[in-house]
Amino acid sequence: MEGAAILLGCLLFVYKSTAVELDTISDTSVLTDGDTLVSPAGIFELGFFKPGSSENRYLGIWYKKIADRMVVWVANRDSPLPGASPLVLKIVHQGILGLFHNISMIWSSNIITSGNTTARLQDNGNLVVINQQEKVIWQSFDYPTDTLLRGMKLGSEETLRRDYLRGITWRLTSWKSSQDPAPGDLTWGADTLGYPENKLKQGASIIFRDGPWSNERFVGVYIFGKRLTFTYNVIINESEVSFAYNIEDDSLLSIITLNSSMHLESWAWLEESRGWQQIVQFPRGPCDMYNICNAYGTCKINMNQQFCTCLDEKRFVPKNQKDWDIADWSGGCIRRTPLECKKGSEGFIKYSNVKLADTENAWFNLSMTLEECATKCLENCTCMAYANPDDTQSICLHWFNDLLDIQISHEGSGGSDIFVRMASSELDFKKQGRGSTKIILLVVILGVLLMGVSITTWLCYARRKSNQAKPTGEEEILMASKSQEEDMEQKLFSFFTIANATANFSPDNKLGEGGFGLVYKGMLEDGQEIAVKRLSKNSSQGHVEFQNEVICISKLQHRNLVKILGCCIEGDEKLLIYEYMPNKSLDSFIFDTTQSVLLDWTKRFNIIKGIARGLVYLHQDSRLRIIHRDLKAGNILLDHDMNPKISDFGLARSFGGNETQANTERVVGTYGYMSPEYALDGIFSIKSDVFSFGVLVLEIVSGKRNRGFVPSYNEHNFLEHVWSLYNEGRSMDLVDSSCAGSCHSTEVIRSIKVGLLCVQHNAGDRPNMSYVIQMLGDEGEPPQPKQPLFFMERQVHVANVSSITYIEGSTNNCTITELDAR
Ligand SMILES: *[C@@H]1O[C@H](CO)[C@@H](O)[C@H](O)[C@H]1NC(C)=O
Ligand SMILES: *[C@@H]1O[C@H](CO)[C@@H](O)[C@H](O)[C@H]1NC(C)=O
Repeated sequence: MEGAAILLGCLLFVYKSTAVELDTISDTSVLTDGDTLVSPAGIFELGFFKPGSSENRYLGIWYKKIADRMVVWVANRDSPLPGASPLVLKIVHQGILGLFHNISMIWSSNIITSGNTTARLQDNGNLVVINQQEKVIWQSFDYPTDTLLRGMKLGSEETLRRDYLRGITWRLTSWKSSQDPAPGDLTWGADTLGYPENKLKQGASIIFRDGPWSNERFVGVYIFGKRLTFTYNVIINESEVSFAYNIEDDSLLSIITLNSSMHLESWAWLEESRGWQQIVQFPRGPCDMYNICNAYGTCKINMNQQFCTCLDEKRFVPKNQKDWDIADWSGGCIRRTPLECKKGSEGFIKYSNVKLADTENAWFNLSMTLEECATKCLENCTCMAYANPDDTQSICLHWFNDLLDIQISHEGSGGSDIFVRMASSELDFKKQGRGSTKIILLVVILGVLLMGVSITTWLCYARRKSNQAKPTGEEEILMASKSQEEDMEQKLFSFFTIANATANFSPDNKLGEGGFGLVYKGMLEDGQEIAVKRLSKNSSQGHVEFQNEVICISKLQHRNLVKILGCCIEGDEKLLIYEYMPNKSLDSFIFDTTQSVLLDWTKRFNIIKGIARGLVYLHQDSRLRIIHRDLKAGNILLDHDMNPKISDFGLARSFGGNETQANTERVVGTYGYMSPEYALDGIFSIKSDVFSFGVLVLEIVSGKRNRGFVPSYNEHNFLEHVWSLYNEGRSMDLVDSSCAGSCHSTEVIRSIKVGLLCVQHNAGDRPNMSYVIQMLGDEGEPPQPKQPLFFMERQVHVANVSSITYIEGSTNNCTITELDAR
């Protein structure tokens, strides 16, 4: 026993003299230069470091196991320690944690207490000083530097807490430079004058704003990917206004950091690639710059050019058209019909997917229904708009001045509904002839609720409409919503018709097996050829949702998308009816030695451009924003004239509750076309489609299949092969021999370059599809691609080779707008 104690003592002694694995500093132990304090599970480490090539030393915290060190917190950012003289971190009198240089204390935790204290580094990266009752009396999380870790707060607190009075503001401040952690002039923190929101400022001027807080997400800011699902903890009460984030995947190492080049960046450490991956960066582009389009203006990018339009070009006009015409947006927009504020003469127009206006001067109430909110706004002539920023709660926001920094949300973002005050002559519902605001409101709200159901009902049951009484006001709503609905061609087919057309789903008529079911060829009585997808029966999804979704998807009309002609829903049967494509799919041509001669270069280049146009439509122009997620040669169908049509888009959420759930949890896609971030981490965005498109382009040019992730130790990886040819200036060697005779070398080289740009490892480096179109055209030389990562001779978990599409957002009240994977 005694021996053991001595042995233990020895061990302790040895342990302590190397002093690298302390996890506490008590009044008897110290941390000196070269020592580190490690959190219990070994996640974070506290120690001394020198930033970049600087000779100054700082006390900081970083992730222990990541060699590529990102310092997440600095103690003495204002007081650098030059030279090599000894440094000591220890607990001193009155429980203060102090950093000593020789004998002078150059930094301390500055909160005193009686009795002994201990400093500890926690596994969340928080350095705490606790007293004997284990109560935290000081924590580094209260003094953020330039990095926000999960659980850290932004905001402020002004009352009694932990037995002492203080007022504290949590905000990030950038480093002066990468060599100098001293506070720079950039800050990221909560603006709590009105309803709180985070602002990125340089000095006093606002660079970027994320939108009002909501429990679900930053309004106007949305980040994809199951593992990267951010959740927010928002506290708004008299004593505290704060905001913190968490990430679904507990094990994911992540940071949000404000760098000295005016960007707020979110990074995650990817174990698989042993690298930091940037998840998102704000501002994302010119349109994110604060209030760039001024009052009621919204920003767009077209042909790489930023420009502004009014929120609604029917009801708003530029304040000064002449300035507007020369791209001087400073005047913003005004209502075409000025407000008068006579009783009963005004109402609201709802705009969806909007980044809500600056709330600096907004009024709010945290427990008010949307209806109460509207009524109250209408009662006050100076109230210009109202909204609820958080659909999980009943928050009412009122704006009393012009709406600044609004933005119709673009790729990758969510948004909220905002109700903007309008003169009655601008309201769509006026013809109902009832001035009462209640009715207008009711119609608006009912409209939202009924939209999906009613369109569906109207379209799918068109043939039976005589027996069905429609809800009143429905027509009004349809009219008001958009004009295109009127010329919709979707039909409800009877099962009998389709069974007839396909000879009772005869195996002879089977065209193939797509995601979610078998595909048959058929012919309607009038001679029209159709393709019928018969969905697997065990779908638990309700009929109404299914119909609604089909209708929503079938509104997508573009000549490079396969057209959906209608649907059939009877009993367990759910069928989708498409136009028939006689030439089947692209893979049956390009990878087939006999067929491939039918595709000369002109046809191939046309196909490439057609697919690109279809994707621009899906990603940007359509009313739903769609990420295809399984773009591949097999999903590109060809019509009589070899025009490409993208198929299997937009259906993922339709087919089976289980599958719908699953697709957020498992990676589904096809070998060879999946972007690294999607294959490895399930992070998908339009840039994952861009990656697949790049692969497709290179396949079309070369006639070779990218086998991507299939382990092939001897064989060159396809992308590696393309890259090395490109690098050696031998790109033309890649061209499929069967079309070599018809080649147009500038087009070929341009295509290869675009393909390589699209398969770049970092999603942020990949161009978006409209830029791809420009590059494929003759507009300037594409930039130099970076070398793709020839990665991963490893089996990726691929559950099912089928088509999955994610529907990102809708601007048209279709109820499939399901943004959050919660
Ligand atoms: C918010 O509105 C509700 C309902 O109108 C009201 O009862 C409550 O007092 C309001 N709260 C504040 C702080 O104004
Ligand atoms: C209208 O709102 C403004 C701003 O909050 C307020 O100052 C004013 O008193 C309100 N007027 C009425 C009639 O409630």
